[in-house]
Amino acid sequence: MVQTIHQSLECLDKWITHYRSFTTEGHCATYIPALGKANPAQLGICMIGADGTIQKSGDWDVAFTMQSISKVISFVAACLHRGIPYVLDRVDVEPTGDPFDSIIRLEMHKPGKPFNPMINAGAITVASLLPGESPAEKLGSLYALFEEIVGKRPTISEEVFQSEWQTAHRNRALAHYLKEVGFLESEVEEALEVYLKQCAIEVNTEDVALLGLILAHDGYHPIRKKQIFPKEIARITKALMLTCGMYNASGKFAAFVGMPAKSGVSGGIMAAVPSRVRSGDSPFQGGCGIGIYGPSIDEYGNSVAGVMLLKQIANSWDLNIF
Ligand code: DON
Repeated sequence: MVQTIHQSLECLDKWITHYRSFTTEGHCATYIPALGKANPAQLGICMIGADGTIQKSGDWDVAFTMQSISKVISFVAACLHRGIPYVLDRVDVEPTGDPFDSIIRLEMHKPGKPFNPMINAGAITVASLLPGESPAEKLGSLYALFEEIVGKRPTISEEVFQSEWQTAHRNRALAHYLKEVGFLESEVEEALEVYLKQCAIEVNTEDVALLGLILAHDGYHPIRKKQIFPKEIARITKALMLTCGMYNASGKFAAFVGMPAKSGVSGGIMAAVPSRVRSGDSPFQGGCGIGIYGPSIDEYGNSVAGVMLLKQIANSWDLNIF
């Protein structure tokens, strides 16, 4: 029997309390100094269904920066404005099995085309492909798409942006290499500015859940009843999320959770659960978008408790797409 909203919210509250105790198994990211100020014990979730059903629990309304979850929006924006073939000529759709900031494959596989847009090398390339001559113009197209999805103009955490801008030595190295081999369309510092500002967009779990919901519905916004981006872009993006979205833990996540998802080092996870799955006794029979925040991350860069919570939800409510 399908659970009532009240019953499912009770479950979420119980699971949040339970998995919060596992946040001690990870640490907040500190390589971007400003992220080290987060409270590692926080854990929150928002789930939104196609009919607008919304469930929120724990620290769902804490503001955090998107970090790598923004790679999804920038990839969609680049495909929308430049066309899928143009983008895929410059960034591939293959998982690497390497950490998100790895540089090794660029030189090992000539001509140095980034493997996918979910790792830093691919995302910096995608940032350079956004339409416009200046970082402000490129960010404009990304912000416009964000606004269509989330319903509000994005704000940037200047503190997080500055903190990463001053310490982004590895991303600078990646960008310089990509420039040298011809995959970066803008100047190095311009691509970095776009990429690091998109990473510093502030969201809460509800914003992230909306993005997941629209991806789950193949680019269609079921609440606003509007096609935001084409189905073909949504499908490629979800395939990338499934194979590369949780970095070098994507295989384990697909096997044991089974949802297209994208994480960020600030502790966010966005997941897209399509409507075609048999959804057990979940109140989200028509699919849903899920946003999670838990800033204590594991060795791969994924929220420790967030991954555990998603696994519990996938199993209990039969939301695993396989
Ligand atoms: O480029 C970076 O290192 C960060 N701005 C984003 C990395 C990230 O979120 C990886 N996530 N797990």
